[in-house]
Amino acid sequence: MKAIQMSNFGGPEVLKCTEVDEPIPATNEVRVRLFAAGVNPNETYIRTGTYSFYVPELPFTPGFDGAGVIDSIGEGVKHFKIGDRVFVAALLAKRNTGTYAQKMVCDANAVHRLPDSISYMKGASLGIPALTAYRALFQRAKIKPGENVLVHGASGGVGLLTVQMAKGFGATVIGTASTEEGKALVKASGATHVLDHITEDSIQTILSLTNGKGPDAIIEFLANVNLETDLKVIAPYGRIVVVGSRGSLEFNPRLAMMKEADILGLALWNAPPDEYQESLHAVGSFLESGIIDPEIGDVFALEDIGKAHEQIVNKKAHGKILLSID
Ligand SMILES: NC(=O)c1ccc[n+]([C@@H]2O[C@H](COP(=O)([O-])OP(=O)(O)OC[C@H]3O[C@@H](n4cnc5c(N)ncnc54)[C@H](OP(=O)(O)O)[C@@H]3O)[C@@H](O)[C@H]2O)c1
Repeated sequence: MKAIQMSNFGGPEVLKCTEVDEPIPATNEVRVRLFAAGVNPNETYIRTGTYSFYVPELPFTPGFDGAGVIDSIGEGVKHFKIGDRVFVAALLAKRNTGTYAQKMVCDANAVHRLPDSISYMKGASLGIPALTAYRALFQRAKIKPGENVLVHGASGGVGLLTVQMAKGFGATVIGTASTEEGKALVKASGATHVLDHITEDSIQTILSLTNGKGPDAIIEFLANVNLETDLKVIAPYGRIVVVGSRGSLEFNPRLAMMKEADILGLALWNAPPDEYQESLHAVGSFLESGIIDPEIGDVFALEDIGKAHEQIVNKKAHGKILLSID
């Protein structure tokens, strides 16, 4: 079968399309014939060999998210049969042979049924993005219906699902993006207000959109740029969830004291197993009820994975970046 393999750490050029043996599922594992895989920023960090959460042994096939059909079942797996449509969310699986491939093996509890009405592309958009969105809103910020939620960086794979879940739960959502295309997707996903990413100049706009109070919760995708501004706009006793950060910043901690605001870190890698399973079930249910409907951005062939890795870190976002697998 075809799979992307890396034998060295480095730039996108280390990702090579190779012929490899099909993996065999062991007890409590399944094999999935994949038709689509999700591409996430963390896979570009892992590729460099410097990512603090995970440095794989080489050779390595990347990829945690995907969708396809069950094509082989290990002993002890009762709740799937060959041919079942599934999505894969294998970030915390005990074994994951990698979704940048025609077939992958992982623990049976890292896959979830995909309704017939949902395409494989949409199924492959869930995994890390949907579980992160759920964890940010419900397990970290603990949002309530009626609250104002600012999704600061709403146009990407995680942001759009965060908007949809918050809206579906009854929050009023303000979303930000930097392009007209991204803003249109944020609006279509259910944001009541859509703005450019917040700067000192737009603090008054955010306050006036929230009756002078500020958002009760901020889901933040570039904290090294925005944390100080977030603390200036957050409501008293508000919660800021740091999901993305690509550097450091200097800021005045007194701002957090004045609001008694909470700054909460999130790393899906740290999700306790019970909370991870809760998220997976909730995402399945949001999908079936139509609360979430992933927006597909650019789709690349498996062989063009290097281009997909360049795109996800360097280009403006407009939905989920995916691999299409023959
Ligand atoms: N902590 C975790 O466990 C976890 C899990 C998943 C993802 N993440 C991180 O979350 C971030 C987003 O992931 P993704 O998959 O959604 O990536 P993505 O699809 O590339 O989206 C990136 C998002 O960041 C926005 N952005 C760019 N500049 C910004 C700014 N100055 N202020 C606020 N937002 C800005 C982009 O908006 P425009 O393109 O419209 O400017 C876009 O909405 C990444 O840094 C990723 O590593 C963390």
